[in-house]
Amino acid sequence: MIPATRPAPLTLTHLPRDFTWGVATASYQIEGAVAEDGRVPSIWDTFSRTPGAIANGDTGDVACDHYHRMPADVALIKSLGVDAYRFSIAWPRAADLSFYDRLVDELLANGIQPWATLYHWDLPQALEDAGGWPNRDTAYRFADHAATVFERLQDRVDTFTTLNEPWCSAWLGYATGVHAPGRRSPQAGIDAAHHLLLGHGLALQAMRALETRPHTYVISLNTGTANPIADRTIDHGAAYRADGMGLRLYLDPLRHGAYPADVVRDLAYQGITIPVRDGDLELISQPFDMLGCNFYFGQNYAGTDEAGNTHDASGAPVVRAIMPDTPRTAMDWAITPSRFTQLLLRLTRDYPGLPLVVTENGAAFDDVVAPDGSIHDDSRTEYLSAHLAAVAEACARGADVRGYFCWSLLDNFEWSQGYAKRFGLFHVDYDTLARTPKQSAHWFRETIERTRGSR
Ligand code: FCB
Repeated sequence: MIPATRPAPLTLTHLPRDFTWGVATASYQIEGAVAEDGRVPSIWDTFSRTPGAIANGDTGDVACDHYHRMPADVALIKSLGVDAYRFSIAWPRAADLSFYDRLVDELLANGIQPWATLYHWDLPQALEDAGGWPNRDTAYRFADHAATVFERLQDRVDTFTTLNEPWCSAWLGYATGVHAPGRRSPQAGIDAAHHLLLGHGLALQAMRALETRPHTYVISLNTGTANPIADRTIDHGAAYRADGMGLRLYLDPLRHGAYPADVVRDLAYQGITIPVRDGDLELISQPFDMLGCNFYFGQNYAGTDEAGNTHDASGAPVVRAIMPDTPRTAMDWAITPSRFTQLLLRLTRDYPGLPLVVTENGAAFDDVVAPDGSIHDDSRTEYLSAHLAAVAEACARGADVRGYFCWSLLDNFEWSQGYAKRFGLFHVDYDTLARTPKQSAHWFRETIERTRGSR
């Protein structure tokens, strides 16, 4: 019997008929750093050992032990009734991809499409020691990695994503130092951004050269929204600058074959240059099939600081982020579903002809396990429900959104926040590693069933 408190599933009539439903994870966040297959250290192994880098001193050494529990985890995915599973391939395991062979086979045997991401932030430490992403050669090494994975899996995997959120890899990894490898140089951040994009282009080229049948190629970007805090020219300018650094710096070269002139100018003012060489933009802008949108929240921007100054001490224009005044998730991220609709419509308008797929959306809340073991995570269900409705609304208004992957299948290592932040549809008890479906998992399954059944 369905408990009275159980949230009602949605019927999303505006989603396209062949909409892909899925759940997502990433290698370092769930697998555990086991080296039975010759896995080599990654920048996250190193970074997580840096005192103070990760909440509670957590590391991905064990994570969810997915490496050993993979068949049972695939059974969890199946229990949700989804079409697809988005996972990432650990580059440090490139010498022996047998784990991913088994994973792909297990998924296919259970009727689940494998969506493989080639890079979700776990750069081999040896490549970081050779200069990391700010070193141009890393882009070529990434293309080699893509080719190795593709040769092994292309017969069974239809959809390959090159990069997950290059803004995070580049900016958080090399400019602000919040993520691995923890460097703090804006120039290194921009060098990394360009070489990640170059790596994407080189990887596409390498995979296409090896194709024995057509595949679908995706790149997943951070896609928030940057809105002015007020209708002042200065705030519009700040929001436009934030959008430039967060989204257009990546999507313009990918789709328009050029870096946005305003961003290039702003960077030059700070003495930062993008290390573009002849031919790079042609490589970066070759066609791909779908844009992966990872959406969590929208942000507001002001062009003045608290004292009303329009420029900072270095003379650069102020771009001050101000969280929208809405309820927040446990990440302290504003809950802004209408911004999701705004984003999907804006991408449709500014980057026409590019189908969209939501490759991540979800929320962390401080889940409470009831005495009977159940987890009534109504806040998560409400978040997912509002954001799925926002996707459906965007579709009704003309956006071409092909699928939705919930972040995440199960609670996992949330980067610099360690295990403290829980995004899963399945709860993980980190003492026993037992998985328990939260109410949101049941709700997600029922919503998928209802929406399919309404066709
Ligand atoms: C995204 C990451 C993903 C996860 C979510 C919460 O930026 O791609 O790995 O950590 O945020």
